[in-house]
Amino acid sequence: MKRLTVFLISICTILCFTVGCGVEKKTEGPKVLKVGTEVFFPPFAFRDPGTKEITGFDMDLIRAIGEKMNMQVVLLDMNFEALLPAVKRGNLNAAIAGITITPDRQKIVDMSDPYYESGLSIVVRKGEEAKCKTPEELKGKTVAVQAGTTGEEKAKQLAGENVLSFKTSEETFQALKDKKAEAIVIDKPVARYLIRKQFPDAAVAVDAFATESYGIVMRHHGDLTPKINKALAELKSSGEYDKIYEKWFGKDTK
Ligand code: ARG
Repeated sequence: MKRLTVFLISICTILCFTVGCGVEKKTEGPKVLKVGTEVFFPPFAFRDPGTKEITGFDMDLIRAIGEKMNMQVVLLDMNFEALLPAVKRGNLNAAIAGITITPDRQKIVDMSDPYYESGLSIVVRKGEEAKCKTPEELKGKTVAVQAGTTGEEKAKQLAGENVLSFKTSEETFQALKDKKAEAIVIDKPVARYLIRKQFPDAAVAVDAFATESYGIVMRHHGDLTPKINKALAELKSSGEYDKIYEKWFGKDTK
């Protein structure tokens, strides 16, 4: 009996040590910041065609924010619509994907201070710009949008019934090309980038008809929101933000 007790005590001690060591190990090195994004939104978040790595303005910004907070950013590529629910559930610490700050979203999650001023554009096939000179002219047209976006919401208000929702912004451009849709409602900088790089047969018909600001998404009532806002403010005042901005958008376009 005595032997058994001694044996059990030794086992417990060994276990305590191993578990203890494990815990200690975890606190070493930078903590992980699990960040969700969606990679069909250039130049904010996309895969580099050569390296296939996730890159873009948002990625440089969140990595710089992580560095300021002494945290290691781990990126997870997800469907756009899955990002906010994942942050809300706690599966992600944050999300960055050109996400517009809206009061409806702020009911579900926290959003950081604005980090980019954006707007919505209307895109049509090249040569058909005259068909849609104002947002009101979307009425009755078949409009392609990305599901879950502010563009989808606006298109539904303006076009009525015929809104086609796709998983990615690339699919909206493909639908326009294939003549399944007559117009796209999409964020202005992304429209410009995709036309320039991938879809030269498309053209901007209305440059910007709604102004929007992008913010980083975090869980309500966590300690991350003030920390991310502080890091963002520091990057803005130190000039690091401007460097990242110029890398992706050039000097004059701010
Ligand atoms: N700014 C728009 C929104 O928040 C579109 C964002 C789409 N982002 C993306 N990674 N696909 O609804």
